[in-house]
Amino acid sequence: MSKIVSGKVAIVTGAGRGIGRGIALLLAQEGARVVVCDIGASLDGAGADAGPAQAVVEEIKQGGGEAIASTASISEPGNADKIVAAALAAFGRVDILVNNAGILRDRIFHRMSWSDWSDVIAVHLNGSFLMSRACATVFREQNSGSFVHMTSTSGLVGNFGQANYMAAKMGIVGLSRGIALDMARFDIRSNCIAPFAWTRMIDSIPAETEAEKKRVAAIREMTPEKIAPLAVYLGSDAAAGISGQIFAVRNNEIYLFNQTRPIRTLHRSDGWTPEKLDAQLKGAFEPSFTPLDRSSDVFSWDPV
Ligand SMILES: NC(=O)c1ccc[n+]([C@@H]2O[C@H](COP(=O)([O-])OP(=O)(O)OC[C@H]3O[C@@H](n4cnc5c(N)ncnc54)[C@H](O)[C@@H]3O)[C@@H](O)[C@H]2O)c1
Repeated sequence: MSKIVSGKVAIVTGAGRGIGRGIALLLAQEGARVVVCDIGASLDGAGADAGPAQAVVEEIKQGGGEAIASTASISEPGNADKIVAAALAAFGRVDILVNNAGILRDRIFHRMSWSDWSDVIAVHLNGSFLMSRACATVFREQNSGSFVHMTSTSGLVGNFGQANYMAAKMGIVGLSRGIALDMARFDIRSNCIAPFAWTRMIDSIPAETEAEKKRVAAIREMTPEKIAPLAVYLGSDAAAGISGQIFAVRNNEIYLFNQTRPIRTLHRSDGWTPEKLDAQLKGAFEPSFTPLDRSSDVFSWDPV
């Protein structure tokens, strides 16, 4: 029986560990040949280690699949073209790109440095652009292809100490939507997933109070492999017609997110002054203001 991504070639960034590893393994089980991209960096982006990418390639091969490793950094302009060229040389085509590689540099905003900002933007947002742009040329020639990008509820909702990461993850939502609009005419799709999973990225969340410890214990139940089925499905032709959307996966739950649209309007035929706004704006809009929630305020119950 043919599997859901049989004959497809997938590139998965950050596939040496965590969520990316789970996606790479399931893509291979479901019939795809996989390029496992991972620089093997520490959580904050420092260092490099060929071990994680190679280990996932070995795991795929032991399962009877086909895979190659790439340890080039996706944030370095020029590397994306080399990664795509390696995929074409090994497997002759590229059908699925999973933009998953990421780092964290959490810092309360008034202490955030330029490098905290620019390094996070470089890996998440610039890396996703560079890889997407390199694949877009191949997808356009094939008149087919699927992009799957990891965003985060830290961006979609919010979190403390993550203005850099929030900006990068919301930037990825815009990138995905832009690709979806521009490339729909070529039957090319682009979607986002906001994953929840216990990986070293979450291990960095401080758990000091009893409530925090309880919450972290519940998050541990969410293994990174739980994200893979949706990523593989979105990459497959079975998901035809799904593009420009934002999903989330939290253990056995799958969410569809809304996207920003106007919710209230005010107008005056004689126009506005700051004073007139002072007289009317709060009264009209305040009941509809979006509260300053964090992700944990919105996802306030234990995952199913
Ligand atoms: N774990 C979660 O709950 C969670 C929540 C929201 C979003 N995410 C997102 O999911 C993705 C995967 O996260 P994870 O938790 O599996 O993290 P992880 O740290 O376990 O894995 C990320 C991988 O990316 C690799 N990487 C980092 N910089 C790279 C670069 N420049 N080039 C190539 N590879 C690079 C790292 O070496 C690492 O193996 C990230 O984009 C993250 O922001 C995760």
